[in-house]
Formats: sequence, C-alpha cells, structure tokens
Amino acid sequence: MCGIVGYFGNNSAAPLLIKGLKRLEYRGYDSAGVAIMEQDAFTVTKKAGKVKELETKLKGASVKGTIGIGHTRWATHGEPSDLNAHPHVDQTGKFALIHNGIIENYAVLKQILEQKGVEFYSETDTEVLVQLISMIYHEDNTSFEMAVTQALRKVIGTYGIVVMCSDEPNQLIAARLGSPLVLGVGDGEYFLASDASPLVEHTRNVIYLEEGECLLIGDDGYEIKQVKNSETVEKKISHIDFSIEEIEKGNYPHYMLKEIYEQENTIVDTMRGRLRLDEGNVHLGGIQDHILRIERARHFYITACGTSWHAGLIGKYILEEFAGIPVHVEYASEFRYRDPVINSQSVVIAISQSGETADTLAAIRKAKENGCLTFGICNVVGSSISRETDCGIYTHAGPEIGVASTKAFTAQVSVLYMLALHLGRKNGYSKEDGIKLAHALHDLGDRVKYILNQTDQIRNIAEEIVDADNCLYLGRGTNFPVALEGALKLKEISYIHAEGYPAAEMKHGPIALIDEKMPVIFLAPHDKTYEKVVSNIQEVKARKGKIIIVTDKVTDDLKSLSNHVIEVPVSHARTFPILATIPLQLLAYHLAVLRGCDVDMPRNLAKSVTVE
Ligand code: AGP
Repeated sequence: MCGIVGYFGNNSAAPLLIKGLKRLEYRGYDSAGVAIMEQDAFTVTKKAGKVKELETKLKGASVKGTIGIGHTRWATHGEPSDLNAHPHVDQTGKFALIHNGIIENYAVLKQILEQKGVEFYSETDTEVLVQLISMIYHEDNTSFEMAVTQALRKVIGTYGIVVMCSDEPNQLIAARLGSPLVLGVGDGEYFLASDASPLVEHTRNVIYLEEGECLLIGDDGYEIKQVKNSETVEKKISHIDFSIEEIEKGNYPHYMLKEIYEQENTIVDTMRGRLRLDEGNVHLGGIQDHILRIERARHFYITACGTSWHAGLIGKYILEEFAGIPVHVEYASEFRYRDPVINSQSVVIAISQSGETADTLAAIRKAKENGCLTFGICNVVGSSISRETDCGIYTHAGPEIGVASTKAFTAQVSVLYMLALHLGRKNGYSKEDGIKLAHALHDLGDRVKYILNQTDQIRNIAEEIVDADNCLYLGRGTNFPVALEGALKLKEISYIHAEGYPAAEMKHGPIALIDEKMPVIFLAPHDKTYEKVVSNIQEVKARKGKIIIVTDKVTDDLKSLSNHVIEVPVSHARTFPILATIPLQLLAYHLAVLRGCDVDMPRNLAKSVTVE
C-alpha cells in the first residue's frame, strides 16, 4: 500500500509531486522518490525516510521539468533503503517506473531476465517490471505503449503503476490491477494519484481507472485502453465531493485527534437523510434495488479487516438480535481462501473505510463467484469495493487520513445499526421501539460532545499508565468488539501490547497476567450482563490490577471498585457500543502522544492495505 502520484502539464512538476506525496504519506512512509523529465532525459531523486527528507534532498537539486512521477513506499519486497526506494530504472536508463502492489511472479520473471544478462541492483519486485518493459522494448523493437502492455500481460499480481520513457519524453503511461489509480483532469494538465486527496486542490474532475485498464497521457490529451487487448475504453468523468479543508489538519496537532473530534458530526452525517424518526425506521437508498433479497437472506456474511472487522462483529450481535438472521463475521484474508457455504441466498457485506483493502476486495469477488448478493459499507466514494459490490451504503465520515481508524469505525457501526433497525422493523421490532432507537441514534452528536469534554480526565489516566507494557480490554456482548477495537487502537499507535477479550473469558487464562502493573479497561454499561461484569471487575481488583471503567452511569460502587471511571451517557442502551469506543480512542491517542509516537503515521503501518 504505497502512494503514487504523477503530473503532466506546464508547471514545475517537483513541488506538485512532493505536495501530492505528502497527502498520500499515510499510505506508506518507508522511503520516497521522484523522477522528473527534462527535454529527453529524466532525473531520479529518491531516499529512505519520509517525504520531507526527499523534499530536502530535492532542494539541493535544480530539477525543472513539467512531467514527473513520485512514490512514497510501504515496503513489501526489500527493506526500506535508498536503493529499494521508487522510482526504479531499467539498466539502459530509458525507463523510470513507480509501483503500488505486488508482482507475485517476480522471481520467475527475474530469472528469465537474468538469463538474458540483466543485472539487478535492488531487492524489489518492482525493478523486475521496469527491466521487463525495457527488455521487451529493445528486443521486440516495439513502442513504449506496447512494451508496457506486453510486460503487464506477463505479470501475475497487483499493480498501480506510472511509467516514463526518455525516448517518448512527452508521455506518461499508467495502469492498474488491484491497486487504485485516479486521473485528475485539469485545464491542460493531468494529475495521477492513488486516491483523490492530492487532486482536490487542482481539480474536482476525476476518472477512476478500473481493473486491467491502462492510461496514456500525452500532448494530445489522454486515452484509456484495456491492457489485455489495447481496445480503447470510454470513461465518464466523476466529480470529487469533499473539500480541501476536510483533508487538512486545521488547528489540530494530529489528523487522528481531528477525526476523533469530527465524530460529533460524522455519526450524524452518516445517518442524515436516512432516519425516519416518526416512523421509527430508516430509508437506505443504496440498497433499495436489492432490499427484498436482503430481507429474505438465509444468512449474512460480514467480511472485513482490522477495525472494520470489529465494526462487523458489533453488526453480528445487533443484526441477529433485530433481524433474526444468522450472521457470520469473517476476516477477509481467511474468507477468501477457505470454502464458506455460500450461495444465492447469502448476502455478503464488505466493510472497508478505504474501499481498497486487497483481502476484502478479493472476498467480495469470491462471494460474487458464488452467486451471493454483495453489499459494501465504504467511506470512499468511487473506491474499488464500492464499485464492485452489487449495492451498498456509504459512511459519510469524510476523508480519514490518520492511519488509526476512528470516525470511520463509529460511522460503520451507525450504518449497521440503521440496517438492523430496518430489518428489525420487518421482524417484529415495534414502531414505538423503533422511534425510540431512531431518536437515540439521531441524538448521538450531543453525546459525543459530552465524551470529548472528558479528554483532560482521559489524558490524566494516560499519564498514570504511560509506562505500561501491556493492557487488557474486557467487555461482554456488543462491548466485546469494542474491547477488541480499544486494544487495537492502543497497539497500533502507542506500541503498548494490548488484548481485547470477552470479560468472562478472562478467567480462562488472561487473569494470570493481572498484577499491580496491568491496566484493565472494562466496558461496563448497566445492561443485562452488568452484574457479571462487576464480578469480573472484582476478580481483577482482588489481584491488584489497575482498573479503568467505561460506563453509562457513574455510581459509588463503580468508583469504589476502580482507579478511574469514564462516563458515556446514553439515551438508549443499544447505542452504548457506538459511543464507548470514543474514550478508548482518546486514551490510545494520549498514550501515543505521551510516549512520543508518530500518531498519524505509526511505524510499520499504512492506511490502506492494498497488498495481501
Ligand atoms: C485501523 O485502525 C487500522 N488502520 C486497520 O486495521 C484498518 O481498519 C484495516 O486495515 C481495514 O482497512 P479498511 O477499513 O480501509 O478496509
């Protein structure tokens, strides 16, 4: 999951490429590089480290060209280093290429090329592709375009690439298979990027490349063709609907904090126009064409990764309860390789913030091969998963830049609650109960504000446990997935090891971990399992664990049992899991800041995992 950019126009390419890479840096930040064409030769500047280090290196070089490509890397093959950084150049020095994806048959291709005398300088699969293009170009004495498409027809794997050739200095060629690529159509200039965020300040007119398409940009404009047969493809121009402000940090120190605070609006935005308060129901336009098939599903499969999978697990609990339909929640990476018993009576729901996660996309394709109805819950309009599913519901959380997903999660859960309400009303959930729940969902924004106002208390808690090496998160029912999500947030940005468990499961092993150094975070709303959770709290207290409780109502009992109690006031018991996640996001955030971690670009991570 790297970030790639390209520019073809009349302005200096270097600053535009650097700015674009900074907007994409959340996709990968091990190393970065650019190639700029000047007359009939290009200059490559690349370096391990973040984009700002490349920017500094570029300042020392006078690179003036108006055509260029840029890349910020998340290493798959070959460690982060200057040598492995993209762009990669062929041995003749005529081609420069940037790539997002994995060339799975790179070893076989590399062997063939080495037998033909090619000497490789890097450990990357990407270099194999640029050397292959060059080999075909020279051996077959063919055009730049045909060399690229012929090479791509030999590739097994995934790619989003942009290539330049010094024999055709006024041309860029791009192509995609499994890794996203968007063309921004400007006024006499063209922009390329892995997603739309670097484009919006230049143009709102975009074209999303589809699988197996290549794009030719030259002085006469652009043309899109099929890689497999070079047939021209007519594409319509789409329009970006988010603003530049939405992808800026504003007055916040980190994107993650901004996005945590945006939940005061994004939860409501996700439900705006969809709640029917007086009917105690919802209207979900994106699935209307398939609503009967969804209502009559024999079972649901929810497939996702990471945080989105946690949202799916909450979905399981509420959909089974409201709709009375069996729900299986599967990691997409497992679902795609096993043999689930699915067919035309199955509805497979893919949850994905980016809409580009490779495993989730593959799971959807498997579901479609088996005749299932596929249903996407995505946050990025025009993303691959949103385009490949039969129907879907967009979360309206706006661009999520911080690598740790926050506002997208609560938006995903809100969508699942709306789906559950719709199906519940078909399954005996009364209008009166529906009205209560619809109003509670509608009022969540104010509740979020109350929670956010507790950030100082949560920072104090973070200061108390800043040296913890491990943390345990415990919850029951729909709060078990919340525990998992709280643990993941902590792990991925503060690097403290954390585990989420069903609270009762603690006695089957994890309780051995409890001592005075172990912070244990309990989700303890006054619901049907409250007394049981209190018993678990007492078991931890008896072993001197540091107890932090997140509850819907602070009581003297809970205060006497814990070191800290965080209040999450709800007007409807069902909505606690949506809100209870927010203090856990804040706790992880403050701990990461206190520990000097890079909150928005945590080590080893990237925002969108577009490789397996
Ligand atoms: C969440 O904080 C992580 N960054 C990660 O688990 C993420 O949720 C996962 O990679 C799935 O991404 P998606 O929602 O874009 O498919």
